[in-house]
Amino acid sequence: MSSSAQIGVTGLAVMGRNLARNFARNGYTVAVHNRTASRTRDLVKEFGQEGDFVATETAEEFVAALERPRRLMIMVKAGDPTDAVIKEFAPLLEPGDMIIDGGNAHFADTRRRERELREQGIHFVGTGISGGEEGALHGPSIMPGGSKESYASLGPMLEKISAKAKDGAPCVTHVGPDGAGHFVKMVHNGIEYADMQLIGEAYQLLRDVAGYAPAQVADIFRTWNTGRLDSYLIEITAEVLSHVDAATGKPFVDVVVDQAEQKGTGRWTVQIALDLGVPVSGIAEAVFARSLSGHAALRAASRHLAGPQPAPLSGAEAAAFADRVEQALYASKIVSYTQGFHEIAAGGEEYGWDIDQGAVSAIWRAGCIIRAAFLDRIRAAYDARPDLPSLLSDETFAREIAAAQDDWREVLATAVRQGVPTPGFAAALSYYDGLRAPRLPAALTQGQRDFFGAHTYRRVDREGTFHTLWGGDRTEVSA
Ligand code: 6PG
Repeated sequence: MSSSAQIGVTGLAVMGRNLARNFARNGYTVAVHNRTASRTRDLVKEFGQEGDFVATETAEEFVAALERPRRLMIMVKAGDPTDAVIKEFAPLLEPGDMIIDGGNAHFADTRRRERELREQGIHFVGTGISGGEEGALHGPSIMPGGSKESYASLGPMLEKISAKAKDGAPCVTHVGPDGAGHFVKMVHNGIEYADMQLIGEAYQLLRDVAGYAPAQVADIFRTWNTGRLDSYLIEITAEVLSHVDAATGKPFVDVVVDQAEQKGTGRWTVQIALDLGVPVSGIAEAVFARSLSGHAALRAASRHLAGPQPAPLSGAEAAAFADRVEQALYASKIVSYTQGFHEIAAGGEEYGWDIDQGAVSAIWRAGCIIRAAFLDRIRAAYDARPDLPSLLSDETFAREIAAAQDDWREVLATAVRQGVPTPGFAAALSYYDGLRAPRLPAALTQGQRDFFGAHTYRRVDREGTFHTLWGGDRTEVSA
């Protein structure tokens, strides 16, 4: 066998298979390998005419099929299966070769793997890939980490298979060293959770408060999708809401069990944010809302709890309310992206990654699950001011929120009055008001901490750290 393949893909479940096909369709010779060899044979049998595949059965054959430096992409389950595959292939590789992990790995695992393989001279490229099955085949958004050298060799190939933004720019950038790519993919998924939760709350309000049926809500989302909320998630929301269950004739959304599942990347986003001290309250509420939905027994036991009488709106009032919900959704969305980008900045600082936030927003413009017209504007904000402290400090976004805030507050007030849960909208507004506030009750918190634990405090009018002798004569001493 000649060593002619420019890239190899091992792990041919749907994501791996579609990525392999994407490389082949773009003119690359692709070595393919899977633990169960029949899957490799099926791929070549079914899609062999799409390009040049080299089907291999053993690990040795697979590695031998690759040109040097070898680019070996692993598309297996995150966690132990990834370590097992690395263990199998690393001994067969040589210095300068690359192992590219395209799964949803935890960035801390990626950092460890990168460190271990670096000792062997192997480049480990933890790569976030977003866009689901379709994206993998037709063009995903790609977030590679790893060394600069590996990007020099791999980047052009990833650029070729990636999604292209409207201006033609490929949706891939070298995010930063070691785990930076997987970190950014993790935050992408956290934002994805928040977007989905906010859309869910908007839907619930349109049904329960405005009294619209799912098909009518779908039409509203379709209209919104022609404006500033234009995005993949809004588009598919309209599709899901207008779908009718063939078996019952009921709206599909009414026959699905209302318990949302998760594979964990949203949860990681929140766990890491807690460690970094970054308030990602909107993303956290999205994760908790999924958890709450899953507690079926607890929910059943709570159904009798008191709530207000439903008072649905109708006619022009309902239509006006829907317009307000659009404002609330948009404003809350700005906040969740603000929180996500804050986490990226904090992670970049903690791990020394030097992440270009403008470049990250640019590669999310197409291919990924959170792709949206809105990301072009985020990119513009970071391009205009790369050191932007927060998206909310961008004048355009600040102006838009200012214009939306009355409706945003009104929608929340209505939701509270009518007992419709809106944790995402509420967290977003509290974050906004928290940042705006000239004084926060944190001063009182400090006083309490000093009272019971002599934890000390700082003063607004003098440098230094102080303690009040609470149990004595209450004089203040320098601490
Ligand atoms: C993507 C998606 C993808 C996957 C999520 C779903 O960017 O293509 O985010 O990675 O669909 O992992 O996550 P949950 O199962 O946790 O909802």
